[in-house]
Amino acid sequence: MKRSRFVAAAVVVLTGLLVILGGLGCQAEKKKVTLGFSQIGAESEWRTANTKSIEEAAKEAGIELKLSDAQQKQENQIKAIRSFIAQKVDVIAFSPVVETGWEPVLREAKAAKIPVILTDRAVDTKDESLWVTFIGSDFVEEGRRAANWLVEKTKGQEGTVNIVELQGTVGSAPAIDRKKGFEEVLKDKPNFKILRSQTGDFTRAKGKEVMEAFLKAEGKNINVLYAHNDDMAIGAIQAIEEAGLRPGKDILIISIDAVKGAFEAMMAGKLNVTVECSPLLGPQLMSAVNDLMAGKTLPKRIVTQEGVFPMETAAQEFPKRKY
Ligand code: AHR
Repeated sequence: MKRSRFVAAAVVVLTGLLVILGGLGCQAEKKKVTLGFSQIGAESEWRTANTKSIEEAAKEAGIELKLSDAQQKQENQIKAIRSFIAQKVDVIAFSPVVETGWEPVLREAKAAKIPVILTDRAVDTKDESLWVTFIGSDFVEEGRRAANWLVEKTKGQEGTVNIVELQGTVGSAPAIDRKKGFEEVLKDKPNFKILRSQTGDFTRAKGKEVMEAFLKAEGKNINVLYAHNDDMAIGAIQAIEEAGLRPGKDILIISIDAVKGAFEAMMAGKLNVTVECSPLLGPQLMSAVNDLMAGKTLPKRIVTQEGVFPMETAAQEFPKRKY
């Protein structure tokens, strides 16, 4: 009798232990990796596609994503990063709106032992140990590709080729680098002249507004528009049409991103070429997060592979576009 009571008690205790251990096991299984991501905003078709790619890839990878929209303000990105540190996320990633001014907050992340991944845009910091890797395009090369297309397109043409340039957000890596790459190719070619260059902040509305001012000042002198993104080019196309000129014919239009809107404009004969800059960085970001969590060392730079799409290829390429 005594023995059977002892056995019954032992069974109860063991069952209890198993339940507790099982529960703990479940909890451990459920603990998801947390990624805090500070996005720049929603200034362009590109950015919307980039956010979607990150959200979908996080879901697919089972990573808990805390996404914060900075509405194109650096101060909001700094606040978001501080909040991710306070929440003790596993990894922080962000696409910096401008290049400078990040050192203090990145030092705080480092002190909290939270690794930081840069996506899309780079930062300008002396201490490169403040971030683990930078995943994104080579913006200087994009500028070079835009200029090389123009040189090829205007080969044999007599006279000066007058260009107006719509720059991206002031102080941002793509605005600085796309300008640099473009100028690098044209610097020894005196027949190319940049008449005017101003920021359109990567938006359609600003692109249109600044193009109106360019047209007012330079009128029919303008042969080429080089826009640092498709959205500004699309806004400028409207301004050119309203001024009674034919975009794509009277004024050659070169832009960057290769979003669907640019392909539509190319198929309508209004945009001549778009240089690809892929926003589909989500899968690469999630695999970098998982690698970090597994203790792997990441390469300092992960460059996205991209192409150039002239208007002649638009109809064929359009159905294949993912953004
Ligand atoms: O940083 C990438 C750039 O940001 C894209 O070219 C532009 O469209 C976006 O707003």
